[in-house]
Amino acid sequence: MINAISFDANQNRNDADKIGSNTSSANRIMSRCDQLQKISSRKETYFRAYLTPEHRQAADKIMRWMRAAGMLARMDPAGNVVGRYEGVNPGAPAVVLASHFDTVRDAGRYDGVLEILTAIECIAAIRDRRRRFPFALEVYGFADEEGARFSISFIGSRAMAGLLKDQDLAKTDIDGITLAEALQNFGLSSTRIFEAARQSDEMLAYFELHIEQGPRLQSESLSVGAVTGIQGQTFATCTFKGRAGHAGTVPMDLRRDGLLGSAEAVLAIEKIASKEADIVATVGRITVEPGAANVIPGRVIFSIDLRSPSNSRRNLAWWKIRESLEAIARRRRLTVEFIPIMSQDPVSCDPRLTDMVAEACGEVTGRAFRMMSGAGHDAEIMASLCPMAMIFVRCKNGISHHPDEAVISADVTDGYRTLLLTIDKFAAAL
Ligand code: HGY
Ligand code: MN
Ligand code: MN
Repeated sequence: MINAISFDANQNRNDADKIGSNTSSANRIMSRCDQLQKISSRKETYFRAYLTPEHRQAADKIMRWMRAAGMLARMDPAGNVVGRYEGVNPGAPAVVLASHFDTVRDAGRYDGVLEILTAIECIAAIRDRRRRFPFALEVYGFADEEGARFSISFIGSRAMAGLLKDQDLAKTDIDGITLAEALQNFGLSSTRIFEAARQSDEMLAYFELHIEQGPRLQSESLSVGAVTGIQGQTFATCTFKGRAGHAGTVPMDLRRDGLLGSAEAVLAIEKIASKEADIVATVGRITVEPGAANVIPGRVIFSIDLRSPSNSRRNLAWWKIRESLEAIARRRRLTVEFIPIMSQDPVSCDPRLTDMVAEACGEVTGRAFRMMSGAGHDAEIMASLCPMAMIFVRCKNGISHHPDEAVISADVTDGYRTLLLTIDKFAAAL
């Protein structure tokens, strides 16, 4: 049961000028989310992909806000934006606050950027109080997390964590432009992208605040919660190949229709995911070739996104899906091929940092609520570099990856306070 709550995106906007109050901070964060939402490659919908003019425009704006908050700001060789607020001793290792500023197609306005803008607001508050910590604070805006342009995701955080591979540069977008070419066209370099990598000893901790993208906090009547871990994900494409032919002349029993095999396959995937515990599976993209109304589809390629908090359950479900799709292909005299794109194990948040986040949530809401993340986040990549933890902020009806994505300013205030408190707790524990 989802509790009713008033989600008025404009509430309290008129307080936005009163610098210094938590409410004005939330309103500034939300108004900046609105400003970024205007930087879109589509007129009617929100979409900002990696290494596009909109990427550049959004990066420039974020860097201006970083500088206004007292940070030194730069773009790194992967196109990420990085702001740095020095600690007591310049050059000290950093606590990193980060998320992404690319979007999915037809996106909502808070996914990713809410953290970047909340983190900038925290640094502004710390600067205004003339505080310096024994560590630096860095805010990263990762330029690619969603993977909407190339067939791989997390390019920004993987470059920063040193996990990008040579072969990733050969990945192409829908127009056949490789990642290497797109970097050059953007004014970056395909060889220098690896210089975006940071070393473990430069980073003390990573904190990411994000909208929950699910309904759990709303059903608990809570504005914020601490994340315990991020579920694992298998991402692959599947190709069913038959034989194209004339739609008017080939009798039904002689056809080898790739789309009919795929249609059965998509339903089989739904059935397997629905039967198994802790599994979700999605087919979100499908290409039919040759794609003409009067031609029997000869080849169909579709994506499979399979997620679970349990590796063994995910592996078992993946095996069942493959077995079932191979049986469909045999029965329909088609061939089936799977191309694995990503297999990401579930990642646990650091228990010590998560205790700090949970304590901060408890101080803000009265309840130190903990939950798993169903969605993927840059934090899972950063876990290979340093201890990480996450804060979730309630969003309306759990809607995300959709233009109806919404948060209320009171919850953004709670998220902002939780992040500030967490930084304080981290400093106190040193
Ligand atoms: O797909 C995801 O979980 C993330 O939003 N990129
Ligand atoms: Mn997303
Ligand atoms: Mn996100």
